[in-house]
Amino acid sequence: MSKHLWTGRLSDSLDAEFAEFQSSLRFDCRLAHYDIEASIAHAQMIRDQGMITPSEGEQILDALREIATDKVDEIKSGSFLGEDVHTVIESLLKEKIGSLAGKLHTARSRNDQVATDLRLFIKDACKSHSTNIRDLRRQLLSEAERHLTSRDGHPAILPGYTHLQVAQPLHLSHWFMAFFEALSRDESRFDESYKRMDQCPLGAAALCGTSWPIDRMFTAKRLGFSEPMRNSVDAVASRDFVTDYLYASSSLMTTLSRMAEDLILYSTSEFGFLQMPDELSTGSSIMPQKKNPDLCELTRGKTGRVFGHLVGTLTVLKALPTAYNKDLQEDKEAVFGVFDTVGPLLRLWARLVPKLQWDTERMYERTQDGFSCATELADELGRSGVPFREAHHIVGRLVQFCITRRKSLAELKSTELSLFHPLLTEQLMERMSVESVVESRKSFGGSSMSLIVQAIEKARKQFSNKLDQAERAPRNR
Ligand code: ARG
Repeated sequence: MSKHLWTGRLSDSLDAEFAEFQSSLRFDCRLAHYDIEASIAHAQMIRDQGMITPSEGEQILDALREIATDKVDEIKSGSFLGEDVHTVIESLLKEKIGSLAGKLHTARSRNDQVATDLRLFIKDACKSHSTNIRDLRRQLLSEAERHLTSRDGHPAILPGYTHLQVAQPLHLSHWFMAFFEALSRDESRFDESYKRMDQCPLGAAALCGTSWPIDRMFTAKRLGFSEPMRNSVDAVASRDFVTDYLYASSSLMTTLSRMAEDLILYSTSEFGFLQMPDELSTGSSIMPQKKNPDLCELTRGKTGRVFGHLVGTLTVLKALPTAYNKDLQEDKEAVFGVFDTVGPLLRLWARLVPKLQWDTERMYERTQDGFSCATELADELGRSGVPFREAHHIVGRLVQFCITRRKSLAELKSTELSLFHPLLTEQLMERMSVESVVESRKSFGGSSMSLIVQAIEKARKQFSNKLDQAERAPRNR
C-alpha cells in the first residue's frame, strides 16, 4: 500500500499498483520547467494582490527559483516518485520552506495548472516546428534554383506521373516548389494554432474561478500569453489546442510522407532518378548491394503513428462530461510522442534534401518514352480547330498504334500519321520535344521556366521578409 498525498475525505491508504498506474510523472516530468514558470507567475500575482505577505512571497519565489535551477533535470530523469509533476514540485517546495509551501496553492488547482503548462509546451512546440519547416523550405527553394541549370546547364526535367503512370514532363524545380508551397501551408497551420491557443487558463482554478482577488491579466502577460481565457469552465475542460497541434502535425506529416514516397520510388533502380546520401541510408545485414531509404520509410511509417495520436486524442475527448476528468491526462503522451517525431524528422529532412544526388540525364531519358507529350499533341490539334474531345480520341488511337508497333511518336512517318488526321505531320511531331512541351505550359501556376523563375523570386522575397521577423526561441526540452 502507498499513501494519498492529500487525504481530504479519503482514508490513508492507496493501492500501490493503482498509485503507479495513475501517476503521470513518468511523462509529465517534461513539463517541470513550465510548471515552475507558471508557479512563479502565480506566486508573484498572489503576493502583489496581498493574498500572501511580501516576505512569504519572497520565500516562495526564492525556493521556486532554486528548484528551477537545481531540480529540473533530476525531475526529468525520473528521480522522484509522485502522482504528477505538479505534486512533486509542491513537495520539493515543502522540503525547502515547510508549510508555507501550502500557500502557493491558494486560488489555484491542478486543473488550471496542467492546462497552462501544456499550452506553454505546445506554444513552444508550434514555434519550434514552424522554424524547422522554414529551414526545410529554404533547402527546397535552393534545390529548385539549382535544378534550373543542373542538366549540363539546362533545366532538369522529370517525367510527371498520375496514377503512377507517365503523365506529362515537368521541370524538377516545379516539383520542388510544389512541396515548398505545401509546406508553407503546413507552417501556417502551426502559426495559426499558436495564435488560437495564446490565451491563459491559469486562474480558472478547479472550474469556476475563485473568490480570491486574483489578477488573471497579470499571470497571462507574465507567462507570455496575449490574454486570459474568457471562461473558466472552458479553460479547464477544452483541449482543442492539443488537437489543433496534433492535426497541424498530421497534415505536415502527410506532406513529408508524400515527398518520402516520391523519393523512395525515384531511388529504386527501376526509376533510377536519384541516389540517397549514404549518411542518411542504411544497409542490409545480408544483401551487400542494398542501400535502403530508411529516413523516407520511417517518415512514411511514423506518419501513421502521428495520425493515431490525433485520432486517439479526439476519441478521448469526444464524450467527456464537462469539465476536468482524469481522462485528460491521456493527452500528454500523444503530444510528446508527436513532438519527438516531428522535430527530429524536420531537421533530418533539411539535411536530406540538399544531399539527394539526382541523375538528371536518366530522368530526361525517361521523359522520352511513355508518350508524355500526348496531351500537347491533342492540344495542338485543338488549336487548329479540332474539338479537344475528338483530338483526344485521335491521339489516343495514334498512341495505341505506336504501342502495337513498338514505336515512339517521334519515329512515325507522315504517311502513317496522316492515316489518323491530315493535320498530323512529321514537322508537327518535331515541335513536340519534351523541352518545348514543358515550356508551353504558361498558364498561371504552370510548369514553364519563366513562371518557375517568377515563383522562386517571389518565394525568396516573402521568405526573407518572414525570416527578418525576430526568431522565436523555443524552450521545449
Ligand atoms: N496529472 C493530471 C493531468 O495530467 C493533472 C491534473 C490533475 N487534476 C486532478 N483533478 N486530478 O491531467
